Order: sequence, then C-alpha cells, then structure tokens
Amino acid sequence: MCGIVGYVGSRNCVPIILEGLKRLEYRGYDSAGIALVKDGLFSIDKKAGKVADLVQHLSHYNGSLSAQLGMGHTRWATHGEPNDINAHPHWDSEEKIAVIHNGIIENYSTIKTKLVREGHVFRSATDTEVLAHLIEEMYKRTQNLASAVRHALAEVEGTYGLVVLSTHESDRMIAARKGSPLIIGVGDGENFVASDAAAIVDHTRQVIYMKDGEVAEITATNIRTMTIDDEDTEREIEEITFELSQIERGGYDHFMLKEIHEQPETITNAMRGRLQVDEGTVVLGGLRDVQDKLLKARRIVITACGTSWHAGLVGEYLFEEIARIPTEVEYASEFRYRNPIINSDDVVFLISQSGETADTLAAGREAKQKGATVLGIVNVVGSTIARESHGGVYVHAGPEIGVASTKAFTSQLTVLSLITLMIARAKGTITEKHAQVLSQELAAIPEKVSRILAKTTEQIKEIAEEFRNAQNFLYLGRGANFPVALEGALKLKEISYIHAEGYPAAEMKHGPIALIDENMPVVFVVPKDGIYEKVISNLQEVKARRGRIIAVANEDDHEIEELADFVIRVPRTYGYFGPIVNIIPLQLLSYYMAVARGTNVDQPRNLAKSVTVE
Ligand code: G6P
Repeated sequence: MCGIVGYVGSRNCVPIILEGLKRLEYRGYDSAGIALVKDGLFSIDKKAGKVADLVQHLSHYNGSLSAQLGMGHTRWATHGEPNDINAHPHWDSEEKIAVIHNGIIENYSTIKTKLVREGHVFRSATDTEVLAHLIEEMYKRTQNLASAVRHALAEVEGTYGLVVLSTHESDRMIAARKGSPLIIGVGDGENFVASDAAAIVDHTRQVIYMKDGEVAEITATNIRTMTIDDEDTEREIEEITFELSQIERGGYDHFMLKEIHEQPETITNAMRGRLQVDEGTVVLGGLRDVQDKLLKARRIVITACGTSWHAGLVGEYLFEEIARIPTEVEYASEFRYRNPIINSDDVVFLISQSGETADTLAAGREAKQKGATVLGIVNVVGSTIARESHGGVYVHAGPEIGVASTKAFTSQLTVLSLITLMIARAKGTITEKHAQVLSQELAAIPEKVSRILAKTTEQIKEIAEEFRNAQNFLYLGRGANFPVALEGALKLKEISYIHAEGYPAAEMKHGPIALIDENMPVVFVVPKDGIYEKVISNLQEVKARRGRIIAVANEDDHEIEELADFVIRVPRTYGYFGPIVNIIPLQLLSYYMAVARGTNVDQPRNLAKSVTVE
C-alpha cells in the first residue's frame, strides 16, 4: 500500500529518499512527499500524483536541497482525497514534529475532536495528522521524542507503520509498527527505515524486521528497539535475499511483462530442491514440523484475497481430488468476521504474495487463536504471515512489482501441487507410479510455459487489437479451469478497466447468457480433459447467440477451429496442473489489451500491490 523510506547518516539523503520512493511506487501512488531536517529546521514538500511530480516540484530548489536526516512517503488514499494537502508528511501546530504513516488510525475522530477543543488547528482531512498533534502534546510532557511517540501510540487504535522526525531532536528517526510492515536497514554510520526492502536494497542488505508493537529509536550509529511500554526488545539482523536486478525492468516495457516472461524460471524455482522426479516424492522443509498435523487433518481451509484466493480455488481441486482431504476456500475478509467453526485438527492455509495483506493476516490470527494449525504459502521472505504461521512454504517467485499478480500466481499453484503430492504420497492416496507420472508432468511445465510465451505472443497482440474497444468480456471454464476463468477476468479488469466476469461455463445459462450478442467476447478455457465435451456444448450455446469466441485449447485439438473465432494453443498438461499453463495466454491477453488501450499497466488506477488495510 503506501510506501515509507527514511534516512539518518552523513550522506545527502534527498536522492536516497527519492530513489527509494520510486522503487516503492508500485505499492500505492496517488501522492508523495518528503520531509528533511537541516540546521534545526524542517523542509517539507508534498505533491498529488506520481513521485515524478514531486521530483518536478522539487526542481525549484535548483539542486540546493540537501540534508542528512529525512523521510519520504508515497500515499494510497484512505481518509481524504489524494491532493497536496492530504499527502504525507503531516506535522504538528508548531511545525516541529512530522509524521509519515501507513495504515489507519481508527479512533482518529475522537482524538481529533479532543485536540481541536484544546486549540489544535488541523490542515488536512487525514487520520494521520492527529498523530503529529498528539505527539506534540506528549512531547510537551516528556521532552523526549521516543517517549512522546510511545505515549501517543498508547492512545491510538488501528494499524500503523510510521516514522516521526522532529527538529527538537534532529539526529534521529522514531519508527513504530503495528499491522503495517516496517524494516530498519542497518548501514555503516548510517541507518534506514522502509516499508519494503526494495527501497533500501541499493544501500544495505542488513535489515531488522520490526515486530508488531515495536518502537525504534534510530540514529546514524545506534538502533534501539523497544515495546510501547519502553521495555527493550531483541533485535535480529537478517539478510535481504533478492538481487537489485530483480526489482528493475531489465529491458521490458513493463514489470508485468517481465514477470510474465520470468515464469518458466520462477515455476522452476518453486520446485527446485523440493521435487524428486524419479522417486515421485516431495520434500518441503517448512512443513517438516507440522507434517503430522497435515496428514491427520480432518479438513483444510484455504483463505486468501484476490489472485491468491483464485490460487486457493485450484488448491481445493488438488487437495480433494489427489490428497483426498475435504477442503474449503474462503475470502479472508469474510472468514475473519463470521466466527468460523475451527477445530484443532483443521489445517488453515494462508496464501499471500506479499505476506502482509491485512485481511489474510487477521484470518490467520483468528484461526490460530481457535487452535488450528496455520500454514503460509507466501512469496515475500520474512513477511508477517510467514513469521506468524506455524509453518509454510515460500513460493520463491522473487519480488513481484507489477500490481497485477502473474508469476506469484503460477508459483502458488506450483507449490499447492507440491504440497498435494507430498500429502498424497505420505497418505497413500496415490501409488508410487502415479506420483512419478505426476512429478514428470510438473517438471515439464516450465518448458511448456516457455513454448506458450514464444508461440502465442504475436497472435495475442492481434486479438487484443481486435477487441481493444470491447466494453465487457466473459471468461468461462470448468473444473480446475473455472478459477483460471476468474483469474483471467480479474487480470483484464485490473489493468485495462474493461468489465470482465469469470463463470463456471455451465453456469452461464443461468444468467450471463442474457448478455451474449455479437458484441460480447467470450474467452473459453477448454483443454482436452474429461469434461471437454461438456465445455464444447457451452461453447456452442454462445456461438448460437453470435458471441465472439476466443478459445484457449490444446495443440492437438482439431475440432475447436470450426467453433471458435480465435484459438490460442497451449500444450496438454495433466488436468489439475493445467491452470499453471492455461493462465499464461490470459495474462498476455490482459497485458496486450491494456497496452492497446494505453492504460498504466504497472500502476493501474486505484489499486495497490499490497493491501495492508481492511
Ligand atoms: C491486492 C493485489 C492483488 C492481490 C491481492 C492479495 O489486491 O492488487 O494482486 O492478489 O491484493 O494480495 P496478497 O499479497 O495477499 O497475495
């Protein structure tokens, strides 16, 4: 969601902060701001729009802007529209304390009313501004910035990752975390704070992941972490695991296209060292301690949001069909608020690219509290969901920057397939021979994905050109390809703003069929599997109503050409692994549709990469 970067040291922090903000823009980006402390004075600039707009605005300083202490923020609006005034940082009445904040202060209105009564004048419509004024009040009492922040936070309900600077103590940053991720970058004679390692990896690979409820006092040479009650906390310095090249576009027009093309490699990485093809076995270190619970699970619940939820739906097919464990999939935002029945022999999987999605995190806490074994399928190493789960499996897709998730999805599906194989072998729901065949099928997928990327791109560009002015799209599939239809539709609406719906193909006749006419493009995911003929009947129903059909079909399907207007060929794959392959052309289609329509592919309007508020 919003992005935070802060610096204290001996270098000029302006380029460090602006570069960091650019690397964070993918998280949320309707406005940006920077606060610098120099010679005991603040200089604060903020601007609606992109970081580039802020940089343009700063050009009036003619390069004279410099400081050794500063912080910057990119905002994704929650309270108050995205304009210059509501952009962060926000400061107190005397302009001596400035705050940047990710998250939501839920009781801000009560605090604000009280502060207004005491004479504080507010400039913005944000919840964040109350923090600056509240800290101002606390500073009057404590005359110590860290204590003032701690005392203020004791009165606050909600979530935050925040950084506070003050001209009262112009050699330090105070950072605090509850619910929104924050890391401290440890340098040599300089230190950093950021909401995402991408912002600081240029400068240091040594980081401390702040824990919920922690406050940190950071100078150039010292870091003290404490609880809100001023108890020292343990610090563990960890290494950032990704390379700088992974967060750069590397010659591609967009991160999304780069990430689509990385999939042969990222799917391989998800299997690397885990799948023993010849034996048909799977080793997953992160599940070793909970293996017993998993094998004895009475039921699996998968909970997630967005694309990760779609991966969960495919997981249901895998777990039920191959591992024979009853499985339910639920939106995390629904699960957390409905007092679900959870038993101690339930296993709850949380699927999350970022590992920080507020609803998924809360659903996991709820399940944990009710006694379930909670396991994460997460991409971002060290993220909160990864830390709070009893065990789990990293998908190892590397940093995903494009807001529309692509490579994380196929890696999630790969990991779900591995977990399924592991359980099925251990429980004996499949034979050794069958497991070997399935393992070979999985191992062959990266090459199939490469083939699709190489062979279908030009054709998909033409299809995108043909349909660039469409107002609606329908995506249909059955079985494990129903979630593929949902994901294909989500990709299209996310980045090209065309209304798109995914449906189980047979369900179409119970409603969506009313929409079909010669202006309605319908995408069918129709591999040659056990229900091929059934999907073909649904396809005929669309054709009879003159809908325009784009079929994702197997290379050896010779019937389909007669029926569909466009056929995108994909290699045959074992049914329940099919979604990993079949989604690739749909990702490309949404990408090239967005390019044809001229939308901002990597930073689509209103969306955020990681949704850390409810
Ligand atoms: C946001 C992103 C989606 C993502 C969803 C869940 O809405 O824009 O791409 O699927 O959050 O995110 P997670 O990090 O938990 O997978």
